[in-house]
Amino acid sequence: MSQGQSGGAGVGPLNRRTLLQCGVAAVGGAMTSRLLAQPFLNPRVFAPAPAPVFDEELEFDLAARPRLYSLRPGAPTDCWYYYGSVRKGSPAALTPVPNSPLGPTFTLRPKQRVAINLYNGLPEDHVTHWHGMDVPANADGHPMHAFPPGATYRYEFDVRNRAGTYWYHPHPDMRTGFQVYKGLAGLMIVQDDEEQSLQLPRGPFDIPLVIQDATFDANNQYVYNPDAMSGFFGNSLLINGMPAAPLSLASRVYRFRLLNGCQSRILKLRFSDLTPLVVIGNDGGLIDQPRTYPYVILSPGERVELWVDLRAKPVGTQIMLQSLAFTGGGTGQGAAFDVVRLSVDRARTDPLQLPATLSSITRYRLQDAINAANPRSFPISMVPPMTWVLNGGVFTMTGLAANEIVRADTLEVWQFSNPAGAMAIPHPIHLHGRQFQVLDRAVAPTRLADWNTVKDGYVDAGWKDTFMIMPGETVRILVRHSLHTGMFVYHCHNLPHEDMGMMRNFRIDP
Ligand code: C2O
Ligand code: CU
Ligand code: CU
Repeated sequence: MSQGQSGGAGVGPLNRRTLLQCGVAAVGGAMTSRLLAQPFLNPRVFAPAPAPVFDEELEFDLAARPRLYSLRPGAPTDCWYYYGSVRKGSPAALTPVPNSPLGPTFTLRPKQRVAINLYNGLPEDHVTHWHGMDVPANADGHPMHAFPPGATYRYEFDVRNRAGTYWYHPHPDMRTGFQVYKGLAGLMIVQDDEEQSLQLPRGPFDIPLVIQDATFDANNQYVYNPDAMSGFFGNSLLINGMPAAPLSLASRVYRFRLLNGCQSRILKLRFSDLTPLVVIGNDGGLIDQPRTYPYVILSPGERVELWVDLRAKPVGTQIMLQSLAFTGGGTGQGAAFDVVRLSVDRARTDPLQLPATLSSITRYRLQDAINAANPRSFPISMVPPMTWVLNGGVFTMTGLAANEIVRADTLEVWQFSNPAGAMAIPHPIHLHGRQFQVLDRAVAPTRLADWNTVKDGYVDAGWKDTFMIMPGETVRILVRHSLHTGMFVYHCHNLPHEDMGMMRNFRIDP
């Protein structure tokens, strides 16, 4: 397998040892905000297409290829990019993100039959995963399905998810972090009748914001130097793949769909003027009712949807979406920085009313789990040399422990625990396949002080596919396994950790 071309330090010959050895000197947490120094730019925002016609069958061509893209003044950046087109069905089902190196946005409806022909135009093996989507094992982007340059992989699945903000990104073993970092990521938005019947902001007022961090060299090329312990922390922010520029907004209501697409950086989000953080959705779509948070924790892989009401803001108001400091994050993690500035530039009237009820979500009950008395237990630990692992072992392509075999369509309780020791750091844990519910959290008394700096921002309502776990924390989730049988993975979504082997198979048997 060949290295990424220019731009950014690849990680050397491909094995886990070199992954571990590289990048001892992480860039660290000194996130310098470039926002204030930047000239005022038009917002680089985009909206998902309006509800497309319902095509029973959709077929797309997608190609991952290198592309030079002007991200910053001066030399273009050597990016990797998803080119896409609709072969069958409404063109509205795949819309490019204007002025952005992100992949095009899929807009899907439940019950559609989807085929995606993915061509690998990269200089190395590749496979793409549809994060949050409940798809057959051979369409899930398991690393075992990585395919070589010049080949095409055909994905076929039915849309079984409810309305929500899902996303897609590479998933080859040991190269996920690098390929995502080079720019390969896009949104997969599902719309359904329940969600469309609500009076929520639409079109240009429904704004996805993919938040990532990166470091560039003097020639505008990506620098990637992950650290084995903590991961990768860039020194500048990207919004929808572009250097963060202010968003020019009107004094009305917006729906923000936030995705943390960072390699490792955890966000603790708040508006600088304390505009309430009214959460209406998260990983698996709308939550039951709007809920207000003092701040929102968004770890890599997680999504949150906000109702952002700017109607009381006079023209000229500037609000910063900030990430606040927290403790217990380890090296490079937990510093405060600015994410993106909201600039209220024009007055508008807007009659929208925040719906009192968004969706009906039946909470699973612990006593209904087939293993209620005996949760599957997945500890996080570190094995030599400095490798974070799940369930006691490093990922191998087919490696499966006895406690990683489950039955389709059974409701189970899974328990994850993070050590409390001084070395411990937070991890975003993600399961492929079904959306689940967070049952409860507990924390070791010795790590309570750190936990208190994040706990009020956990959006554990609704449906989740990724959750953060702090040092000393134990999290129990309730998951009804997919009807799709076969091999899937669960892993840490700190991408350098995933690449290091903090990933495991689980197999769903009939
Ligand atoms: Cu978004 Cu397996 O990951
Ligand atoms: Cu996933
Ligand atoms: Cu991790």
